[in-house]
Amino acid sequence: MLKNRSFISLLDFSQAEIDYLLDLSHFLKAQRQQGIKRNSLAGKNIALLFEKTSTRTRSSFEIGVIEEGGYPSFIDVSSSQFGKKESVEDSAKVLAGFFHGIEFRGFSHQTVEDLAKYSGVPIYNGLTDDEHPTQILADLMTIQEAFPDKPLNKIKVVYVGDARNNMSNAWIYGCAIMGMHFVAYGPQELFPDKAVLAKAEAIAKTSGATIQLSSDISSLQDADVLYTDVWISMGEESQIEHRAKLLQPYKITTQLINATNNPNVVFMHCLPAFHDFETKFVQDALDKFGADVREVDDEVFRSKHSIVFQQAHNRLHTIKAILVATLGE
Ligand code: CP
Ligand code: NVA
Repeated sequence: MLKNRSFISLLDFSQAEIDYLLDLSHFLKAQRQQGIKRNSLAGKNIALLFEKTSTRTRSSFEIGVIEEGGYPSFIDVSSSQFGKKESVEDSAKVLAGFFHGIEFRGFSHQTVEDLAKYSGVPIYNGLTDDEHPTQILADLMTIQEAFPDKPLNKIKVVYVGDARNNMSNAWIYGCAIMGMHFVAYGPQELFPDKAVLAKAEAIAKTSGATIQLSSDISSLQDADVLYTDVWISMGEESQIEHRAKLLQPYKITTQLINATNNPNVVFMHCLPAFHDFETKFVQDALDKFGADVREVDDEVFRSKHSIVFQQAHNRLHTIKAILVATLGE
């Protein structure tokens, strides 16, 4: 169904195609749990290009490729010629002679599009400044596990905080395609880009999705999922003081959990999360700027509502599903 396709933006996929990838993810997870060995990527080499740092995405691609019998090759962009001594076009043409597929994580979204244009092999978006589509697949899978009796189109997701970053954009597209109910709850200054909303609204007309922007805590009522992400994404470090002030009222605390009026609400986060002062970034922001950059407090992060580690582990199964669907035998 998805043979030789790239995975660059959720906008390139229909609801049926996302459903197919989710079903495949559940199947692959079950096979792994049963200890069944797989080999669908035998003979396939996958390049993993990272311009920004990563723990989950890198691990998922590396382990995913290996568990399917393929060969992953990690390329730290800063120690390669990519983008410095060689254009994206030339690098894409070179890499296509070695690899059957290429994952890229970096700054400009244009880079993943150019890699696809010039390489001719499937390109996987491991996060850009604009979108993080593979994360959404893991998030949807985790929601299906958390709410087995509720179809995705009955789920209300409230995305709290920086509602114009790559995670929020990807969520808006994901909800629009899957017919879900999405609320961006944050300050007006960080509401999603109008162009992102326009694309999502066009899809929502047929899928039945609703997309709402709000700075009012009453919008959390009946949420099934409270989702947040860091306030300062990779590359935005100059914003620390401003964002910490602006987003303080949107830190996820028990008060926000209670505002959903739903005892079964789950807390989700793509991770890495700032929830205590053990993290160097959080401590440095406090020491240098007096800024508290925690987007969630420790109480909620460690509470029974939190399903963040299950969510993180589902990155493996969903990334595997993308690889198997596009390049597997
Ligand atoms: N959620 C996520 O993409 O994590 P990493 O930055 O560790 O890959
Ligand atoms: N918005 C975050 C997501 C990290 C997975 C970032 O871009 O840094």
